Amino acid sequence: MMYRPRRNRKSEAIRSLVRENLVTPNDLIAPLFIMEGSNQRLEIESMPGYARLTRDLIVKEAKALYELGIPCVSLFPAIDERKKDSMASEAMNPDGLLQMTIRDIKNALPDMLVMTDVAMDPYSSDGHDGIVCPQTGIIKNDETLEILANMSINQAQAGSDIVGPSDMMDGRVAYIRDALDDNGHSDVAIMSYTAKYASSFYGPFRDALDSAPKAGDKKTYQMDFSNSREAIRETALDESEGADILMVKPGISYLDIIKEMSQTTTLPIAAYNVSGEYSMVKAASERGWLDGEAIMVEMLTSFKRAGCDMILTYFAKEMATLIQKQ
Ligand code: PBG
Repeated sequence: MMYRPRRNRKSEAIRSLVRENLVTPNDLIAPLFIMEGSNQRLEIESMPGYARLTRDLIVKEAKALYELGIPCVSLFPAIDERKKDSMASEAMNPDGLLQMTIRDIKNALPDMLVMTDVAMDPYSSDGHDGIVCPQTGIIKNDETLEILANMSINQAQAGSDIVGPSDMMDGRVAYIRDALDDNGHSDVAIMSYTAKYASSFYGPFRDALDSAPKAGDKKTYQMDFSNSREAIRETALDESEGADILMVKPGISYLDIIKEMSQTTTLPIAAYNVSGEYSMVKAASERGWLDGEAIMVEMLTSFKRAGCDMILTYFAKEMATLIQKQ
């Protein structure tokens, strides 16, 4: 007797029966870039098909996403250079661009989840996620925690459902959890960027927000891409500090990390399919070198196969639209 694996591949019908993993719209979180003004979109050159949108258009976009079955958006504000400073003060403005957008979306779509990023970089004149010591250039960990906690409270007050610390400071999850709880926001979840690597895949995102570091790099706080056991240590820390969801970022080159984490934690796992991963597919597909749509489906499915429960991806709308058509 010869076992023939091809029997289970004979037709689409049998393939669909034995299929282990599928992406559905409710696995997806759509990142959105917000800018000041009204009724305008500003294309991001290094992210074909993606744009910064003004608040009114963000609300429209959120509605379209919600109708496609996408349960959550993740908001990133592009802050006017003149409003940036070394302490990210604009992040604490209750009527800032981000805060007003959160309120608009929650008013229009009370059931849609709004996730917000917690890190100083979009607001920082230094372009770093933490406070930069002016003398040494060192990123100050413990002083930054207070700012991150205030940012989180501020975002929660505006209506954020999930805060996502993307800064990689030590101890920030516990610090933010305590701050949220002490201020009456015990129902606001923390999706921790647990294993966030120092990656060149973030390039297009930094174009989108004009948020690249003015000096140095992020290697003293984001992880070294040579390491995987360190991700398991970060997982244990974030679990003990009270994270609700753990994230791995970037995604595609880090599927091994997702797999390992999914075998050690019982918390839900998210992957961030980052800007560079999106742009690579778009660039190759514009040249006719790859079938962009097929690659999108294959890539997003690989996250599910690796053990993800949810995926932050710039493909969210395109993927959900494709699923709806099928
Ligand atoms: C900032 C932040 C970054 C991303 C999300 N939050 C960039 C960075 O750390 O420099 C990257 C997202 C992407 O590339 O799509 N804290």
